[in-house]
Amino acid sequence: MAVRYELIKTCRQSGARLGRLHTPHGTVETPVFMPVGTLATVKTMSPEELKEMGSGIILSNTYHLYLRPGHEVVREAGGLHRFMNWDRAILTDSGGFQVFSLADLRKISEEGVSFRSHLSGEPLFLSPEKSMEIQNALGADIIMAFDECPPYPAERDYVKASLDRTYRWLKRCTEAHSRKEDQALFGIIQGGMYRDLREESARLITSIDLPGYAIGGLSVGEPKEKMYEALEWTTPLLPEEKPRYLMGVGSPDALVEGVIRGVDMFDCVLPTRIARNGATMTSRGRVVVRNAKYARDFSPLDPECDCYTCRNYTRAYLRHLIKSDETFGIRLTTYHNLYFLLRLKEKVRQAIREDRLLDFRDRFFEEYYGSTM
Ligand code: GUN
Ligand code: ZN
Repeated sequence: MAVRYELIKTCRQSGARLGRLHTPHGTVETPVFMPVGTLATVKTMSPEELKEMGSGIILSNTYHLYLRPGHEVVREAGGLHRFMNWDRAILTDSGGFQVFSLADLRKISEEGVSFRSHLSGEPLFLSPEKSMEIQNALGADIIMAFDECPPYPAERDYVKASLDRTYRWLKRCTEAHSRKEDQALFGIIQGGMYRDLREESARLITSIDLPGYAIGGLSVGEPKEKMYEALEWTTPLLPEEKPRYLMGVGSPDALVEGVIRGVDMFDCVLPTRIARNGATMTSRGRVVVRNAKYARDFSPLDPECDCYTCRNYTRAYLRHLIKSDETFGIRLTTYHNLYFLLRLKEKVRQAIREDRLLDFRDRFFEEYYGSTM
């Protein structure tokens, strides 16, 4: 199998899992946070910088690379790893989510989704077979099934129909997937915020033996508590010996609460996206370095952080760069935010090792949010 999950231990206080994900491009310790490199780059970061901060796996997007530069170009380059000079692990999302959030004039049928490119207006089509063809050409270590993610809120009948379709599409994905020896296909569980539908989707998707399973359709605008509830319905139905991936979730509190509910893998654009507006995550909570109150603040962004940014630059300097639209400012805030979440995951893994993840959560939330939430 292309990817193998090794469960090392579970936290006696919380039930959280500590593990290792063995891939053709190295082993990553889980729980893990995957920085997002939508267009074959984690915006403004070099692969060397990502390695320096300890990232072992990044995410990229089928939808975007299909539109530009086209998967044939990436195939000709020798695959995504060589194209972008990243020799650690990569996961690609299937396009089944991006086509719903980005494309124009979508039309969904049993066959697939026809849409117009949000860049050129060109008519295009994605289906389970097409998504597999593209992801096989890109060559990521982990590829995702082509699914349908209902919006929130959504009618029960619609959610039911879409989870059934997601299951039929998964079967077509497993048929079409041509690189099973070096690319692991993960199935995606849907079911919205309906308990029985989440359970039904979990049963259907896990009835197909796959190297890993993802939980989709969350963090789509529902309250945090609902997301945690949906996780509590789902993770107990997943096989222990396979990795679980919560798609598109990466706020500091959800990164900890998700692990407590049995999740191993996370990704989110949050750290890189907010960095470009001068917003940062620090051990004492959000710091929006763009704000006027930091004009003469010559202290580091986060006094408890030992990243390149915090060791060498002040809040006043970061504010000046961001206000002046200087690229270097964005690079510095991006570096810190990714470092912060990667360190948070490292602390979470240490807390699992020492059976104290619930204590860790309470301390961390008190310091980050000023309460135990
Ligand atoms: N990213 C965030 N949520 C989802 C989802 O439900 N499906 C897919 N394919 N990607 C996602
Ligand atoms: Zn820092």
